[in-house]
Amino acid sequence: MKIEPVADFMARRYGIAVDRLPGPSVRMLLEKLDAFSGPAVPEAQGIIQGTCSIGETMFLRHPEQIAALVELLPSLPSSGAGGRLRVWSAGCASGEEAYSLAAALGARAPQVEVIGTDLNAAALERAREARYGFWSLRGVEVAAASDWLSVDAQVGVRAQVSVRDHVKRRVRFERLNLVDDAYPQALDVVFCRNVLLYFTADAAAAVFHAMHAAVRPGGVLFVGPFDHRPAMAGWSEERLGEVGFFRRDPAPTSTPPTPARTVEVFSPDPTPALHLDEPADEGSLPARLAEARSLAGERQVDAALSILQRAAERHPLALAPLVLAAMVADEAGRPAEALAAARRAAFLAPDDALPNFLMGLSLRLVGDRDFALARFHAARRALTRLADPRAPIPQGEGLMPQQLERMIDAHVRAIARH
Ligand SMILES: C[S@@+](CC[C@H](N)C(=O)[O-])C[C@H]1O[C@@H](n2cnc3c(N)ncnc32)[C@H](O)[C@@H]1O
Repeated sequence: MKIEPVADFMARRYGIAVDRLPGPSVRMLLEKLDAFSGPAVPEAQGIIQGTCSIGETMFLRHPEQIAALVELLPSLPSSGAGGRLRVWSAGCASGEEAYSLAAALGARAPQVEVIGTDLNAAALERAREARYGFWSLRGVEVAAASDWLSVDAQVGVRAQVSVRDHVKRRVRFERLNLVDDAYPQALDVVFCRNVLLYFTADAAAAVFHAMHAAVRPGGVLFVGPFDHRPAMAGWSEERLGEVGFFRRDPAPTSTPPTPARTVEVFSPDPTPALHLDEPADEGSLPARLAEARSLAGERQVDAALSILQRAAERHPLALAPLVLAAMVADEAGRPAEALAAARRAAFLAPDDALPNFLMGLSLRLVGDRDFALARFHAARRALTRLADPRAPIPQGEGLMPQQLERMIDAHVRAIARH
């Protein structure tokens, strides 16, 4: 199958730029499509749509944006006079963003309704189930979120949680293609994060255009750090501290907004352009990591681990694939594989907190308490040497030093009790 008709179909139907997707996924897609007569048959369309749907997400992702939104509450169109706040999580994947918004805003505003939409029907099914594991929770201190997450099961620090009913009731999910479906209207807030980075510049501009009509004057739009940001009449860029966002101009504009210019995505770009002539097991490290994260998020553990193993072989001095492999294997309850990856990470970075912590975790799971304890102590010492204790842990998938410290302490206490 040639790339051109597939790329054209993706752009027209879903807005996706094929050169922004991970190269190995596109090559796999082309191989699968060879079995069909063309991308017009429904099964082939489903396969293409699956490739367009990179579902990587987590609770409280980019927490600084959520904190900024909470501060902005009094300035939103429906605030005051008991108005109902209408919030849209556009491209919500498996729902963590929609629930995070419902929890954060619901605690401060009397009436909040959140609609989560996505292209991917399977992800929306998981969103409606509202049950999540470690992978979704890596940015969350579960004990501190007990007012909106209830713990169903806990092994060590690995929790399985459900979203509490009072938060679930504020959220509904619907399938919606941002390219050609009707948008919800009269919105106060739109979060469309980590979606437009995969879009063509034209499709991203069209989404901004349509969202302008969907948001009430004075309403706000947040995008992710690497997303396209088409500058467009009718939206103003504002800042609250370090956090940038868009606000629909309060006075209705007399002429409909038109795309003014397209600002290219910010660097560093996590999904650099693919080169289709690369051998199947190559590709840039960020693209491989993004693909593995996405597969792990979809619980395709074998596929994620095999990508990470190949990435580790190709980039023998890189810590990231080993750390991610240890986390994925640990989450999947595969301590031997987690230990092997963590051991190699600790070999590369013996003085770093995370590899030591991950080794401790795996050693504890395989029953080696003394060695586990030694690793936890090494991780604790490493935390005291961090250059910036307020910055996320390097390679930690958003994990903050305080969270890691609490996890280490919980393990040390648990080992001491037995
Ligand atoms: C990386 S996830 C972002 C999830 C969440 N917003 C976050 O930031 O954590 C991107 C999502 O965009 C969805 N998506 C891609 N193209 C889309 C389209 N044309 N219409 C609706 N959703 C789309 C994918 O299915 C995927 O679930």
